[in-house]
Amino acid sequence: MPAVIEVSDLSKQYRVYRKHEGLVASIRNLFHREFTKVDAVKQVSFQIEEGEIVGFLGPNGAGKTTTLKLLSGLIYPTSGHATVLGHIPWKRENAYRRNFSLVMGQKNQLWWDIPAQESFRLHQAIYKIPDQEFERRLDELVSLLEVGKLIRQPVRELSLGERMRMELIASLLHNPRVLFLDEPTIGLDVVSQKRVQEFLKHYQQQEQITVVLTSHYMRDVESLCKRVIVINDGEIRHDGSLSEIVDRFSTHKVISLIFHNGDIPSDLQKYGKLLEADPPAVKLSVERDKVSNVLGSLLSRYQVDDLTVHERPLEDVFADLFDTHK
Ligand SMILES: Nc1ncnc2c1ncn2[C@@H]1O[C@H](COP(=O)(O)OP(=O)(O)OP(=O)(O)O)[C@@H](O)[C@H]1O
Ligand SMILES: [Mg+2]
Repeated sequence: MPAVIEVSDLSKQYRVYRKHEGLVASIRNLFHREFTKVDAVKQVSFQIEEGEIVGFLGPNGAGKTTTLKLLSGLIYPTSGHATVLGHIPWKRENAYRRNFSLVMGQKNQLWWDIPAQESFRLHQAIYKIPDQEFERRLDELVSLLEVGKLIRQPVRELSLGERMRMELIASLLHNPRVLFLDEPTIGLDVVSQKRVQEFLKHYQQQEQITVVLTSHYMRDVESLCKRVIVINDGEIRHDGSLSEIVDRFSTHKVISLIFHNGDIPSDLQKYGKLLEADPPAVKLSVERDKVSNVLGSLLSRYQVDDLTVHERPLEDVFADLFDTHK
């Protein structure tokens, strides 16, 4: 059976007008338009199987939204192929439209001035969802996302987090098999972010839908995605499990120590880079494969009251990855 999402050598080049300043230049621009080209996505290939939830990560301008727009059929590629559920997205067939959804955290699909409930009705009509099924799904999603009465309030009166939950309901009413989420938690506070994460996790497990998610919040990625595709400058840099990324790109671990009586040794630099020294606590960054040796030496030489070893925060790992692989 083919994968749910198959992408091969997909590229998208945008043409951007180069505008010159000043009146003469403006007139010249009318007759002689100059373009520059932006390679937003360059020969990207990957496959995603049914029921996977994949994090699509990369810095600003990496090509994530462009890829999701291609897979949703909003834009045409410059070259390459893709199928989702056996459909070529940019053919925009109804059979495809009924089976996927795209949610963009930065954009609303709900009408601003009317209650979400009425927008949901509109979705029912567009997707031809039978009354009974519509009611059943709406009830279920409303209770899972705990939005109760809010669906009768004009959308503009809702908080960002509440609105996002409504957007998710709208996108799931027609029971899509594939869900593209472009920064679904952007701008949300930690509590709302967590609520969205928990909902997505639960819903995905229950329905076994295929999800591709972009986010700049590592917590989203950690809590939801086993597999991560890293894109930078339009090209795929890594495709694998999150732990592989940490193993491969995180060269150091952090050792936190509490020295007895606050006696911090003066020669700690020889074990690693001193990140913080706040007696009696110290944080050392140590190369991964030297951690056990360093621990052995420290414990045999000094009186240590407490000790923990942790991975560097994912944010730091990705910051390094994006920086050094440009
Ligand atoms: N409509 C457009 N016209 C011209 N260039 C565009 C257009 N949309 C995106 N680009 C350019 O394509 C590149 C990729 O943009 P894209 O929006 O896919 O990045 P992204 O990975 O989603 O970034 P972010 O994390 O900031 O959302 C960027 O250089 C961007 O400036
Ligand atoms: Mg984007």
